[in-house]
Amino acid sequence: MTSDGTQAVHAGLAEPGRGTPFLGGPVFASTFHLSGEPSGPYQYGRFANPTWVALEGALGTLEDAAEVVTFASGMAAVSAVLLGLTSPGDTVVLPSDGYPATRTLGDHLTARGATVRHAPTAGDAQADVLAGARLVWLETPSNPGLDVCDITHLAERAHAEGALVAVDNTLATPLGQRPLALGADLSVASGSKALTGHSDILLGYVACADPEVADRVRAWRTLTGGVPGPMEAWLAHRSLATLHLRLARQADNALALARLLRTRAGVTDVRHPALPDDPSYPVAARQMRRPGCVVAFTLPDAATADRFLRAARLVAEATSFGGTHSIAERRGRWPGDDIPPGFVRFSTGCEDTEDLLADVAQALDAALADDAH
Ligand SMILES: Cc1ncc(COP(=O)(O)O)c(C=O)c1O
Repeated sequence: MTSDGTQAVHAGLAEPGRGTPFLGGPVFASTFHLSGEPSGPYQYGRFANPTWVALEGALGTLEDAAEVVTFASGMAAVSAVLLGLTSPGDTVVLPSDGYPATRTLGDHLTARGATVRHAPTAGDAQADVLAGARLVWLETPSNPGLDVCDITHLAERAHAEGALVAVDNTLATPLGQRPLALGADLSVASGSKALTGHSDILLGYVACADPEVADRVRAWRTLTGGVPGPMEAWLAHRSLATLHLRLARQADNALALARLLRTRAGVTDVRHPALPDDPSYPVAARQMRRPGCVVAFTLPDAATADRFLRAARLVAEATSFGGTHSIAERRGRWPGDDIPPGFVRFSTGCEDTEDLLADVAQALDAALADDAH
């Protein structure tokens, strides 16, 4: 058994053959030659594509999954699980503090006759609302609050109710956390963030412990058509080989940033799962292999946060996380999260640590000095 960085470099590559590339190029096909009765894996472009299949094999290795189904975006993957694996009358448990679009999908489930219950991620509070559940959705660490829950504990409790357990693994990536090995049935992620890491791809996937569940997820994809483009799938596969290197630098930068922020007057509620006194630390230290690159903190008000973002030179103001370039935003500019007006979600990139810290320090000086006047 090789370690996960080595797996990331080699995952999903074909056996070496003289004169063949390491990773064969993307196959662009809306249809394939198919005479007589349909047979074989490649029939029509919406059903299957060899470039997705190679990526799905690689992700299967990294997620420890029986099968992986890739999608056009994270939300296409989330929808396939929430809509494709539930029926009217089912009870579904969602986090009350996770990615807001997932909760909006929950409203669609309610409109279709499901019962949807919400509880916070912290303290495994979802355990209190599991009775009779068909599907339990966890998001750990949660976006944007960075709370964590105990996947193994909640999966045991949910399985006792007969529920399937899905974990949104976007923030951690499969090198940060392996939900299936921790007892979940499905690991669902946006590959648009740290997994591919260059802020140029939209992608999603569902990793399944059970091939029969994977068949249902794949059938939903084939029916609704949220398939990845071959170019995106190929770029994603190419990006996996540097995932561990990117995550290592980004995690170092995140911890260094969190420590710097802790020293600054005017900055409160600094959150990062690798800070030893963070409320998420005890569970994160047990279940995560890498802590991720998101740091959350709060400035006195929205105007101070906006001044900070304007003063930072290396940090782009943008919405997303996980890329090679540091980005940040005042999260309250979007609806849906229960956060203070000065809340900043910061995603550390791969810049040299000292440059990033110097830039953040000068941007805080500028933003908070103005605050004093
Ligand atoms: C935790 C989480 N899950 C799912 C998604 C949806 O991913 P995508 O934007 O690729 O559809 C996001 C996007 O920000 C996210 O942060």
